[in-house]
Amino acid sequence: MNITLSNGKVLPIEMHQIKIVQKTHLPPASRRLEAMQEAGFNTFLLRTKDIFLDMLTDSGTNAMSDRQLSAMMASDDAYAGSESFFRLAAAVQEVFGLRFVMPVHQGRAAEHLLAKAFVKPGDAVLMNYHFTTSKAHVDLAGGRVIELFGEDALETCSCNPFKGNLDLGKFAAAVEERGPERIAYVRMEATTNLIGGQPFSMQNLRDVKAMADSFGIPLVFDGSLISENAYFIQQREAEFAGTTLQEIILEMMRNVDILYMSGRKSAAARGGLIATNRKDFYDRILAWLPVYEGFATYGGMSTKEIEAMAVGLREMTDPAVASSSADFIEYFVRRLAEEGVPVVTPAGGLACHLDATRFLPHIPQSQYPAGALAAAIYIASGIRGMERGTISTDRGADGSETLADMELVRLALPRRLYTLSHIEYAIDRLKWLFVHRELIGGLKFVEEPAVLRFFFGRLAPIGGWDERLAEDFRADFGDAC
Ligand code: F0G
Repeated sequence: MNITLSNGKVLPIEMHQIKIVQKTHLPPASRRLEAMQEAGFNTFLLRTKDIFLDMLTDSGTNAMSDRQLSAMMASDDAYAGSESFFRLAAAVQEVFGLRFVMPVHQGRAAEHLLAKAFVKPGDAVLMNYHFTTSKAHVDLAGGRVIELFGEDALETCSCNPFKGNLDLGKFAAAVEERGPERIAYVRMEATTNLIGGQPFSMQNLRDVKAMADSFGIPLVFDGSLISENAYFIQQREAEFAGTTLQEIILEMMRNVDILYMSGRKSAAARGGLIATNRKDFYDRILAWLPVYEGFATYGGMSTKEIEAMAVGLREMTDPAVASSSADFIEYFVRRLAEEGVPVVTPAGGLACHLDATRFLPHIPQSQYPAGALAAAIYIASGIRGMERGTISTDRGADGSETLADMELVRLALPRRLYTLSHIEYAIDRLKWLFVHRELIGGLKFVEEPAVLRFFFGRLAPIGGWDERLAEDFRADFGDAC
């Protein structure tokens, strides 16, 4: 939530108190340099003992509420017929208005089942934008992802409040070209992750649904970040200015055929689900559930997490919860933009995104500027972010490099985990790094997996810039911080 101070400035404020704490630790700059070298310049390969603020992701890392934790204690560990499942089903009915639900172990498991049930070799899946795992499962099923994003979706500096909108003209053209029967489904991703956590508008969702219906194509909604998209609709779309988040979510759901989500983000638990009002779709997907996940009432999830997800779904409709990371991100982005540090605007959900193309214009895309920036941020601050650029984009079938549309570094803000002084620290170190950006050089792969290479790939700095950067940092701040 935002409050206005007596000097007129807007301050995001924590609408919760901290009752359990976990000690953190800021390793000295010399250790950070060493740890980054040991991790092969891949932030995924760092150990948390070497990390001060973990902004890798908001997935499964959110602070849980007292109610979530207490619900976990009362879970029902039955293989079949668990009461925990029925409490989840009641929450799904109440929050989404959807009758049929199946738990899955996390979001990508839902994507796997959807691809199994709907995608035949040669089919296309239309999307407002892909997510890494959603694309991987369509590819593995022999399908092809076609992205239908709008004109300025990939512009990092924009005033468009709804860069996640799907372009209807491109939708019509894709159907015309392939025929509706070769399109498995159209997927709308809330708070579109890889373009900087950017929302779509309700009007766009309604329009996409109307067009999908006219062609008989199912609309699949990735709601992993649904509460933030609902919050942005409330803040940015005039029709919904006075509407509650709960009503906005229900209106969204009236425009989807299948909802799936990772339960690790907006719902602040660990797990996932698929939900629908279409019994025929439910049955088609359910056939695969016991093969890959588990029985219909646990789907590979711990019943404790099912309980936590049920509570988390209700809590995410509370504006204090839905805005908790979005308002901090807005502050983070605004302050960095004021200092001239290149960030993605408008501020989105899930993370503050830095534009590595503008931050490091001297590094060619083939030398992974976003990967280099993520490594440099860690060395200069102990903050772990995530590369979202060419390293996160696998090579084409012929082995050629696929240059990503955008070179971003994502500094995710897990919900309710960090305080404003943590954000102030991050802003300060990013300002320092921007002033010293010429010190940063590129990266090259030394070990490169073929699929989702960003997880386990190892890289090396081109020209030993890491040592120079750490040296300059120590000259300004000493080794201790
Ligand atoms: N869809 C979206 C929009 C996501 O952001 C993610 C995960 C998934 C699906 C897959 O869900 O991880 O539970 O299997 N995003 C995480 C992230 C990994 O860090 O952004 P999952």
